[in-house]
Amino acid sequence: MKASNTDRAYGWVARFFHWTVAVLILAAIAVGLYADNLPEGGDAQMQAIFAAYSLHKTLGMAALVLVAARLLWTLGQPKPGPLHPERWLETLGAEAVHWALWIGMVVMPLSGWLLHSAAPGGFARILWPFGQRLPFVPEDVALSERFGVFHELGWWLLAGLILLHVLGALKHAVIDRDGTMHRMASDPALAPEPTAPASGILPHLLAAVAGLGLWVGIALVPALVSTSIPADAPAVQQPAASVPATASGAGWAVDQGKLEIEAVQAGNPVAGQFGQWQADISYDPDSRTGQVRVEVDIASLTLGAVSDAAKGPDFLDAAAHPTAVFEAEILPPAAEGQPHVAQGRLTVAGQAVEAALPFELVIEGDVAQAQGRMQLDRRDFGIGASYADEGTVGFAVAVGFELSARRQ
Ligand code: HEM
Ligand code: HEM
Repeated sequence: MKASNTDRAYGWVARFFHWTVAVLILAAIAVGLYADNLPEGGDAQMQAIFAAYSLHKTLGMAALVLVAARLLWTLGQPKPGPLHPERWLETLGAEAVHWALWIGMVVMPLSGWLLHSAAPGGFARILWPFGQRLPFVPEDVALSERFGVFHELGWWLLAGLILLHVLGALKHAVIDRDGTMHRMASDPALAPEPTAPASGILPHLLAAVAGLGLWVGIALVPALVSTSIPADAPAVQQPAASVPATASGAGWAVDQGKLEIEAVQAGNPVAGQFGQWQADISYDPDSRTGQVRVEVDIASLTLGAVSDAAKGPDFLDAAAHPTAVFEAEILPPAAEGQPHVAQGRLTVAGQAVEAALPFELVIEGDVAQAQGRMQLDRRDFGIGASYADEGTVGFAVAVGFELSARRQ
């Protein structure tokens, strides 16, 4: 069999690419769905999820590499002409599906790689030695989730296109019995001669626009306008409108801020933030003392691809313990140049633990800027008790904040 295509059949190189890519893409879909439906639970189950997603990503990347090579090959090849140009609608439909399949073969693995690259820390590695992240893609939860929406809508579209394509091939084999299958499978000598020369540029252009339109309309636009995605820096819920002045100083209302956490998962750092929290702060700049009470809505946590697992029963258990509370006295710096410390009790997942949060504070007029960070051990709160070692989730969890507040 010849390597190159002729005007009646595909050569062996095009056939090799067609069938290997077809198998890889079908396998990526099957493993992706399998991974998505695995139960989340103990250590062994999480490891199984990581392994399945690693396989899924690796199959997808292998498809992407082959598709890139296939594209270069195809550009220099003749395309077997239409067998029934008089059935123009059917011919146009088949070609539009081919175009949409081509687009899908590129954008599906690419959107997977983008969602993997933008997810802070990633979580299941691509099993290859060439690095994990695409350059110039920032680690950004909201961006990753947007690529995720595209990826999810995209696989439905791709699966639908494959179904149409296979049904079309079957129709040619079973109803038309016109030898179309011989062009891509079995003996090319059995493939019929096209009855007319390949049609002009206009039908190709129409088919290409239709194929592109499907991807734009069904996956790209819905992903761009999707509103179920948290903003990058979620707005802070404002504390009670009036913060009472207390014995130890004036009330301070938080204008804006961020509350972040960082953990280590399967050896990789993962970072996320709480979108909803509120802080009641009183502070006296003269004595440099005060009080603080922070309430955090656990359900508002986004933590890369593992947000749901982190809020699930094995970890923070948002359903049983929806709020975490930090109640502390603000102590002055021990010496000039040292940070303040908020010393008190942190209650997470129903477990209260003594905690000290060192923070830097700068006050200019009525505006205070503060930032601090503390290191916690999840075992102190009984979080992830069934993950007895650090293989899946590390013990240390860092909590950091940044805020600006205005004197009331
Ligand atoms: C069992 C499944 C499949 C069968 C029976 C099949 C069959 C065929 C046949 C007979 C052709 C030649 C059509 C013609 O000459 O008019 C073809 C072309 C093509 N197939 Fe498939 N196919 C299958 C799966 C897939 C999958 C999964 C993909 C991609 C995700 C795919 C993408 C394509 C593309 C893009 C072309 C056009 C080739 C080109 O322009 O280079 N196929 N297929
Ligand atoms: C041929 C290419 C690919 C296809 C057809 C495909 C298809 C799928 C399917 C069916 C799912 C499960 C359904 C879902 O959770 O919505 C999925 C999930 C996922 N895929 Fe892919 N995928 C491909 C390539 C990739 C690649 C190359 C990567 C990363 C390098 C990747 C990363 C992911 C991730 C992280 C998820 C989980 C998304 C989430 O739950 O938010 N995929 N993909």
